Amino acid sequence: MSETLENLLKETRTFEPPAELAANANVTADAYEEAAADRLAFWEKQAQRLDWAKPWEQVLDWSNPPFAKWFVGGELNIAYNCVDRHVAAGKGDKVAIHWVGEPGDTRDITYAELLKLVSQAANTLTELGVTAGDRVAIYLPMIPEAAVAMLACARVGATHSVVFGGFSVDALSSRIQDASAKVVITADGGYRRGKPSALKPTVDEAVAQSPSVEKVLVVRRTGEDVAWTDKDVWWHETVEQAAGTHEAQPFDAEHPLFILYTSGTTAKPKGILHTTGGYLTQTAYTHHAVFDLKPETDVYWCTADIGWVTGHSYIVYGPLANGATQIMYEGTPDTPHKGRFWEIVDQYKVTILYTAPTLIRTMMKWGDDIPAKYDLSSLRILGSVGEPINPEAWMWYREHVGHDNAPIVDTWWQTETGAMMISPLPGVTATKPGSAMGPLPGISADVVDDQAQSVPNGGGGYLVLREPWPSMLRTIWGDDQRFIDTYWSRFENMYFAGDGAKKDDDGAVWLLGRVDDVMLVSGHNISTTEVESALVSHPSVAEAAVVGATDPTTGQAIVAFTIPRGTTDISGDAGEKLIQELRNHVAKKLGPIAKPRQIMLVPELPKTRSGKIMRRLLRDVAENRSLGDVTTLQDSAVMDLISSGLQSGK
Ligand code: WT7
Repeated sequence: MSETLENLLKETRTFEPPAELAANANVTADAYEEAAADRLAFWEKQAQRLDWAKPWEQVLDWSNPPFAKWFVGGELNIAYNCVDRHVAAGKGDKVAIHWVGEPGDTRDITYAELLKLVSQAANTLTELGVTAGDRVAIYLPMIPEAAVAMLACARVGATHSVVFGGFSVDALSSRIQDASAKVVITADGGYRRGKPSALKPTVDEAVAQSPSVEKVLVVRRTGEDVAWTDKDVWWHETVEQAAGTHEAQPFDAEHPLFILYTSGTTAKPKGILHTTGGYLTQTAYTHHAVFDLKPETDVYWCTADIGWVTGHSYIVYGPLANGATQIMYEGTPDTPHKGRFWEIVDQYKVTILYTAPTLIRTMMKWGDDIPAKYDLSSLRILGSVGEPINPEAWMWYREHVGHDNAPIVDTWWQTETGAMMISPLPGVTATKPGSAMGPLPGISADVVDDQAQSVPNGGGGYLVLREPWPSMLRTIWGDDQRFIDTYWSRFENMYFAGDGAKKDDDGAVWLLGRVDDVMLVSGHNISTTEVESALVSHPSVAEAAVVGATDPTTGQAIVAFTIPRGTTDISGDAGEKLIQELRNHVAKKLGPIAKPRQIMLVPELPKTRSGKIMRRLLRDVAENRSLGDVTTLQDSAVMDLISSGLQSGK
C-alpha cells in the first residue's frame, strides 16, 4: 500500500460507563498507569491470580525475539487452576456449566462434578497411552465433554488441537497429520438445526488417512448408529467407568497447551501454538477485567464454538480459571425459533453476554420484536468479537439487548494473540459505537504507516503490537520460519497483525478489517469496513459486504452486496430506487470518493464457519470470474442465491 488509509467515517456519539458499575468495577483507571509504569511487574502481579506449583525466576525472556518465554522456570497445572482449586476453596457445589442442548435437554455441572469428569478423562487418556507432549485432536459438538476433553489433555500435559465440528474430512485429516495426533476425541454426532448431524463418519475417513492415530474416543450424543473400527472406544465405557480421582502434575510455564489452526483464506492453515503460564494469566486477567466478572453473582455466556479461539480462551480457560458460572449452548440461534438466545438469557438470568457482530446483524435482520418478547434486564455487560462492529449494529445491540445502559466491550484480538488486546474497560472507558477504543493495560498496540512510524491522531495505517504479551503465540507448529515471515518481518521489532486501523481525533482505535480487504480507488485507500458501516446506517439495510473490483478508470471500484431489512420492498422499481438512494447515502456519509459503483441487493452473504464475510468470493462475482475455493464457506447454497438474486438487483 502506497499511502495510509483514508479516514472517512466520523462518529461523535459517546457512552459513559453506568455510575454504579464504575463504582464497583474490578478494574479502575489505575491499572493503565500501573502497567505503563512497569509492564512486566504488572503482568507478574496478574500471574499471581493463578496457583503455581513452582514460582518463576524471570517474568519475560526476550533474548531471542520473536521467540518469547514468559514466567521462566515457573510450573503449574492448567486443569488444577481451572477446576481443583475452586473445589479446594469450598466452591465444589457452585455450577461451572449450565449446558443447554439444542433439543432442549440440559445439564448443570458443578465444579466438583467437573473435577470428577476431568479426572476420569485424564485417567482414560493415560490408559490409552497418552503422555505429556503427545498431541490429541478434538472434534466434538458443543457438549460438556468438549471442555472436559480439553481440560483432561491439559491435565496430563497433552497438547490439544481442537478442530471445528463443521469441518470436512480434508480439513480434519490435514490438521491431524500436521500435528501427528495420537488420539482423536469425537462423538457420534451433535444436534444442528433440529436434526442429529453425524461426526463419526468424517472422523473414520480422516483417521484412515492419518497413520499417527492409535485410538479414537467416541462420546455418545445422538445415539445414532455408527460404524466401528478396532481403534474406537466409547467414552461411556471408558471415561465414565474410570477412577474419579487423578493427581495433577505441574508442567513448565512454556509447556505447549494447544495448537489451533487459523482458518486461512488461501494458504495452508497455520497451526498457532499456545503455551501454559502466560496464556492462562492473560485469559484469566482479561476475562476478569473486560467482563468485570463477579464469580459469585454473574452468569456469563459466550456464544462462540469451542472450535475457535474464542471458545478456548473465553469458554474454557479464562472463565474456569476465574471460577465463573457460565452457559454453554449446543445449537444454532434460530432453532427451534429465532428467539432462542434471548429465551436462554431470560431463563438463566445471564448477566454477561459475549457474541459476534455477524450474529448481532442477523438478529437485527430478524427484527426488533424478537428480543422485545423476553426479559433481558439481567444483562449488565455486552461483548463483541470477531469483526469490526458497525456503529449501527452496536447501537442496535445497546438499545435492543442492553436496554440502553449495559456497556458494550468491543474486543479486538486474534487466534495468534490468544487473549483480548484492545478493548474498553466497562467501568472506566467512555465508548464510541464501532470502536475497540484502546489497548488493555499491559498491552502496547499502535497504528503505524508504511515507514513504521506511529501515526498521529486522525491518521490511519497498520495495527502493530510493539511489545511481547503473555498469551502471544509462541510459533507456528513445526514452522518457525513461517512464524517469523508472517508476523515479524513486515516491520522491524513489531508484530504485524494484518489489520488496518485508524486513530481518531481523541486517539481511539478503529479497526478497519484485514489489510488485504482495503480498496484502492483513484489513488485513495478506502476501507471496506467503513463503506459497509455507512450502508448499515441506512434504515433499509441489515447487512452489507463491500469489495474492490478491477475498474479500467479508477483502478478499483467499490461494489457492495447488501441485504435489505426484513420489511423493505425491493420489487420492481422499488429495488432500483433503493439502490440509487443507498449510493447517495454512502456518498453523503463518507464523501463522493466512496460512492459505490454498483450495489446489488442479495438475500444472504457468503461467510466462513466462524461468521466472517468471504469478500474473496464476492470479488469473484463482482469481476465475473468463476468462484475460487469454497471449502471454508459455511453454506454452499449461498453463492447460488447471490448469483440468482443479481438479475433483479443489478
Ligand atoms: C481477526 C482475527 C479473536 C477471536 C475471534 C477471531 C478480526 C477480531 C475484532 C474486533 C475488528 C476484529 C481481525 C483479526 N477481529 N475481533 N473486535 N474488531 N476486527 O479470531 O479468527 O483469529 O480472527 O478477526 O481482523 O485480525 P481470528
